[in-house]
Amino acid sequence: MSESCSIYRFDCNDEEIPPNLQYLISIAKQQKIAFKDIFPWEDYSCSSDIVSYVAFDPGNQVICGWIKIIVFPEDKRIYISLLSSRSSTDPNYRGIGTKLINNIISDFRDYNFIYLQPTFKARSFYLHIGFKDYGSPYYLFKPIAKIETSDVQKLDNEYNYNLLIIALESEGLDRYVRKLERLIDKKELSINDIANIKTVDDIVLLLNTF
Ligand SMILES: CC(C)(COP(=O)(O)OP(=O)(O)OC[C@H]1O[C@@H](n2cnc3c(N)ncnc32)[C@H](O)[C@@H]1OP(=O)(O)O)[C@@H](O)C(=O)NCCC(=O)NCCS
Repeated sequence: MSESCSIYRFDCNDEEIPPNLQYLISIAKQQKIAFKDIFPWEDYSCSSDIVSYVAFDPGNQVICGWIKIIVFPEDKRIYISLLSSRSSTDPNYRGIGTKLINNIISDFRDYNFIYLQPTFKARSFYLHIGFKDYGSPYYLFKPIAKIETSDVQKLDNEYNYNLLIIALESEGLDRYVRKLERLIDKKELSINDIANIKTVDDIVLLLNTF
């Protein structure tokens, strides 16, 4: 049955959801029971960096799978934000997950890599289809044109920065959040400078020296 599924690409050129995509979102909502854990069409909002590929069987009006990505043209990377295949409830749809990812790789041939933070359950699927563990605690990567270890390092640092912001906010230390953002903006601190800081106490100590 997966052979009857074609892949349709939807770019969000502005904040408005294109009518064809809106139509598929409404069908997907009705067929939610055929999917597990991840529902990429939910709370859909458009911006110029968001692209969806929908595997759809138009004859039977069946959503076969859906992948939503974020494109970073400035450093040529693609982040998989959500992927779901109907094969999670119906083995007749095996192959859809791979087909969706291969479509992206063929459309973004000159990009460096595609990556994601997999769920624990899906990790072995990605490793099976060629994603690699480059030692990052959070991400798996599939090289497209090239991948440098420094790219991986950079992403980890961004991730740590975001974690620190969340930790400061959750402890009500908003003035330190603002201070950290200000110092990064003014380039008095870089995301790399705080890469190894893991605790709220340590970041507060550092921020107090400015
Ligand atoms: C993970 C998921 C997207 C895979 O989609 P799919 O359409 O089943 O994938 P494919 O059929 O293309 O699988 C390709 C290969 O990976 C294997 N595979 C699929 N899921 C796997 C898993 N969880 N662990 C290990 N291998 C897996 C398949 O057996 C197949 O192997 P083969 O090429 O030797 O036949 C799908 O199972 C799913 O939607 N799961 C629920 C939502 C989810 O977890 N999304 C990902 C969140 S990060």
